[in-house]
Amino acid sequence: MPAIPSLSLRRFCLTLFLASALSAAPPLRSGWVYVPGAQEMIGAGKWGCVSGLTASANSLTIQAGSGYNTITNTTGPLLQVTGDFSVLTTVSTSSSNSGSGVFLTLVGALNTGANWWEGLKRLDVGLAGNAIGVSYWTGGSGNGTGVTMPLPDGVSGTVDLEVARISNQIVVFAGGMQVGAFADPGLFAAGRVYFGFNVAPGNTLTVTSLAAAMPQGESNALSAPYLQTAARSGTGLRDAAAARGLLIGAAVDPSHFSDPGYAQALGREFNLVVAENAMKFAATEPAPHQFNFCAADQIVQYAQANGMQVRGHTLVWQQALPGWLTTGSYTPAQAADILKEHIEVVLGHYKGQLIDWDVVNEAIAYGAPYGAQPSYWLNQLGSGYVDLAFQWAHAADPNAKLFYNDTGGEGLGAKSEAVYNLVSGMVRRGVPVNGVGLQMHITASSPPAMADISTNIARYAALGLEVHITEMDVRVPVDSGGAATGANLSAQAAAYQNVLAACQANSNCTALLTWGVTDSYSWIPGNYPGFGAALLFDTKYNAKTAANSIKSQLGGQGNPPVIFTNGIVIHGGRSTVVSPGSLVDIYGSNLVGAQVTVNGKAAPAYYQSADLVVFQMPFETGTGSVLVQVKSAAGASLSNAITVEAAAPSILTYGDNWGVVQNQDFSVNSATNCAAAGSYLTAYLI
Ligand code: XIL
Repeated sequence: MPAIPSLSLRRFCLTLFLASALSAAPPLRSGWVYVPGAQEMIGAGKWGCVSGLTASANSLTIQAGSGYNTITNTTGPLLQVTGDFSVLTTVSTSSSNSGSGVFLTLVGALNTGANWWEGLKRLDVGLAGNAIGVSYWTGGSGNGTGVTMPLPDGVSGTVDLEVARISNQIVVFAGGMQVGAFADPGLFAAGRVYFGFNVAPGNTLTVTSLAAAMPQGESNALSAPYLQTAARSGTGLRDAAAARGLLIGAAVDPSHFSDPGYAQALGREFNLVVAENAMKFAATEPAPHQFNFCAADQIVQYAQANGMQVRGHTLVWQQALPGWLTTGSYTPAQAADILKEHIEVVLGHYKGQLIDWDVVNEAIAYGAPYGAQPSYWLNQLGSGYVDLAFQWAHAADPNAKLFYNDTGGEGLGAKSEAVYNLVSGMVRRGVPVNGVGLQMHITASSPPAMADISTNIARYAALGLEVHITEMDVRVPVDSGGAATGANLSAQAAAYQNVLAACQANSNCTALLTWGVTDSYSWIPGNYPGFGAALLFDTKYNAKTAANSIKSQLGGQGNPPVIFTNGIVIHGGRSTVVSPGSLVDIYGSNLVGAQVTVNGKAAPAYYQSADLVVFQMPFETGTGSVLVQVKSAAGASLSNAITVEAAAPSILTYGDNWGVVQNQDFSVNSATNCAAAGSYLTAYLI
């Protein structure tokens, strides 16, 4: 279990201040004290990221319809426990207590399997009928163990409950009196306690206090998943990127912070984050004029705790809009006011904390002829909405760097042209745009040509604009278990490396972000059925081949090798017609000390200089398209695809000589150096 820091002192003071305005927690038993920061755990947005309840400043209300409403707060505060502890709460129920009741739920270990109970360690204590009802689950079955304890005389209505772990016992108090105890089956042995509630069908639970306590001298702490700090190896992608002055980032969903592997991999490998969904319109303004930054703030807090930068994504998009807006009946003027206010409030909330914003996302259509993307904003405001959004954003935060972000226009072609025309038009009109985001959701089988990406980045440099690769993933076909072939993962690695190389070749390209951390939580399988495994880390957070190729590309010193366009040819000739066993020439630069690989496997080299390498196409190379790459201590070249043909028996050619045939005196036979009649010839065959 990685170390999780306790909440900062500033937060602790704030909590105490707020507590005075709230209903008091149940009284402490003698010799017990509050866990620092845990005297009041209801207010100040601590439950704002949890769905299924209504959180106000001083109470939580949880209702159940026809089924149970079971809530676990996996993103908010949690306890880290080593010794004795207790959780105190004040609860009441509107129901007649005739149903199965309302419960405080303490979770010691989250569900780990397909069934809700797998791995789950959970304790429910609450009001059930006219008694205290207790149930617990130990991870092996959905059937909980039930214990009924009496409700003390005179205790009804609003009840103070305390659930304590005292050595190896779970002890329950109601109204300050001990009502029962049983042997603890190790419910909190993992050292964590998540808070939650469980409400039986038809019941309503109101919670007016929630606190945690411990015997004086214990060292339990209040923490939160989003405040974990990752152990830094010093050899993460971020370390290599920082040495090159580059930001390497990932899209983040804060609900995954409760997965310790996620929080560790993210902070160890990346120095930049972007919210995958948490900063979009529907998430930040779920009701008119009502803003919710709960999830987005958790991302920013995580980033700050881990020394990472944050990108903002996204203010204006045709997707992720709330129903109140799209189904509301607003006039164009009202819609403009809504968008302006949204931009001002969201930008204002994060003023000075983010490195940049994707102000407008995907304003060009996904398909030919690449006109304006159909959208609510286009309908309401007309095509001028793009310029307006940037102007409003600039006025709201003149220091924020403002980006236009789009998909499918990463290389050259019609979409790229449309994006370039839009952005260059903005520059011409004096619209405050600082950069362009190239999303880069690509396939391993047909990635955009790397030279095209580099050319595209360079033409934005000529406009004075920065470029970020904002959402890279490289999808490959996967089987029903999510597994990809080794060959596809190698091609994926080459695509990642090539995009990074194209970025590194242009000084205005300053960040590369992948759209997620791990293949476990990628959007690809849900959106491109049959595809997956698109990210740098696998489902167990192991670095994939792609992560290693990114790292070697980042780690190089000096200038990496370059293969010239059409620079791979048959030895001595001009064309690329090569076969297994052929000698092949590579013309390029920075080739000293270079190792040639074919589909990732080292190939024997026969000659090397700064601008020419001669290698032999390995005999075991299959026919078809193969990737040739040159690596040196400075890094790797882009991968070049060439076609290997089956070898037909033939006489070896050399340069402009039609065949390598030697006369009896071992001179090369040619039109001007003919063989004498009756002499022996030596022909070199392949
Ligand atoms: C995607 C998220 O990854 C999904 O979780 C969500 O359901 C839909 O949006 N281009 C973008 C991103 O700019 O915001 C999109 O993110 C992926 C495509």
